[in-house]
Amino acid sequence: MQPLPGFRDFYPPDFAFRQLLFSRWREICRRFNFVEYEGPVLESLELYQKKSGEEILNQIYHFLDKGNRIVALRPEMTPTLARMIEAHYKEYKKPIKWFSIPQLFRYERAQKGRLREHFQLNCDIIGEADLEADIELINLAIDILRSFGLGKEDFIVRISDRQFWSEFLTKKGVAIEEWYQFFQAIDKIERDPKEEIERRLGGLAQEVFELIEKPCYWERFEVVLEGLRHRKLEEYAKIDLRIVRGLAYYTGVVYEIFDKAGKFRAIAGGGRYDDLLKLFGGEDIPAVGFGMGDVVLGEILKEKKLLEPSFPRLDVYVVFPEGKKNPLGLLLIEQLRSSGFSVEFSFHPLKMKKQLAQAQSLNARFALFVTEKLAEGFVELKNMDERKQFVIPVEQLVGFLEKKE
Ligand code: HAM
Repeated sequence: MQPLPGFRDFYPPDFAFRQLLFSRWREICRRFNFVEYEGPVLESLELYQKKSGEEILNQIYHFLDKGNRIVALRPEMTPTLARMIEAHYKEYKKPIKWFSIPQLFRYERAQKGRLREHFQLNCDIIGEADLEADIELINLAIDILRSFGLGKEDFIVRISDRQFWSEFLTKKGVAIEEWYQFFQAIDKIERDPKEEIERRLGGLAQEVFELIEKPCYWERFEVVLEGLRHRKLEEYAKIDLRIVRGLAYYTGVVYEIFDKAGKFRAIAGGGRYDDLLKLFGGEDIPAVGFGMGDVVLGEILKEKKLLEPSFPRLDVYVVFPEGKKNPLGLLLIEQLRSSGFSVEFSFHPLKMKKQLAQAQSLNARFALFVTEKLAEGFVELKNMDERKQFVIPVEQLVGFLEKKE
């Protein structure tokens, strides 16, 4: 039996890759003074009906639980974060800078870069309306990608602003209820046929296409670009009005990060969502953040061979005479493990040669022979790299293994 379409098994090398990716994410988030949080995998479906938008609602895994609640596997983290913050907002110093690495579930068509489950680093700043918070997050996303060895020739942050389009729509007299459909059409501009986009944009199509093609002046873009320029990061970003984001709750600066060659789906996406938290408690709380998935980033890092996990070496392989275990040897194994060393031995009787071959294939640093000398307080060790064999007193064993890192 195979796993379900779009779901992954993580065999040890895949798991080691994933852990290394997560540890890099965590390390860079901490440099920016973000703290980690987590929420439940299962939420009430209603949480997402509040404002995630149609597209994501159609992809939700939901079911009736035994208490007759309609529950959903989380398709994104932002509504959970909004709910959590709203319930305890007053208890935290502002701005709140939190990150999380949830596993998310979306019933999408499984394809390159898109699965039905993925892990997504979420970084959000809550309680800060200044554009500096938006810039800080773009800075963080760039630094995360750079920490993997990706450079400006590899990726680009495409920045836009929903306020630019809101102002355009207000001027054109488009009713607010129709804005989401408009944003959806722009969001699909690079994927759907031009005639389809034209049909959806109706009378605005011509003007929209012209605006997208030409460079435009918009003061908020200048502020963001200047912030990046001060950090010498301007070459990692560009203004691109085609980015509006598919999710319904964004209100301000939005961005998506893509590989420069255009071979992959989006690496990350985010923006400002100042109206979302109000839906949960009525309080006006500004918020901004982004999500970066493990799937596309993983594909890029594997292609460029930029993240290759290594497994820690086995410290000691214990060789029993003719494979026959004895209490002194077993006690020594237990003591070594309690002292923090990794120790392995054969579960069933094996010839000495076979045991040494196992030590070799497990990449052990030392083979330790349980001989009659152990009863007198001595162990025989073999350095597996230098192929040298020697005897040391048992009480010196721990110190010796520690030194030989
Ligand atoms: P999103 O654009 O839906 O945003 O997802 C962010 C990133 O998650 C994408 O750019 C992609 O790397 C990854 N991703 C999304 N769906 C899949 C999938 N089916 N398979 C693999 N990777 C995927 C959000 O979810 C927002 N809640 C992010 C956010 C946080 N906005 C503010 N704070």
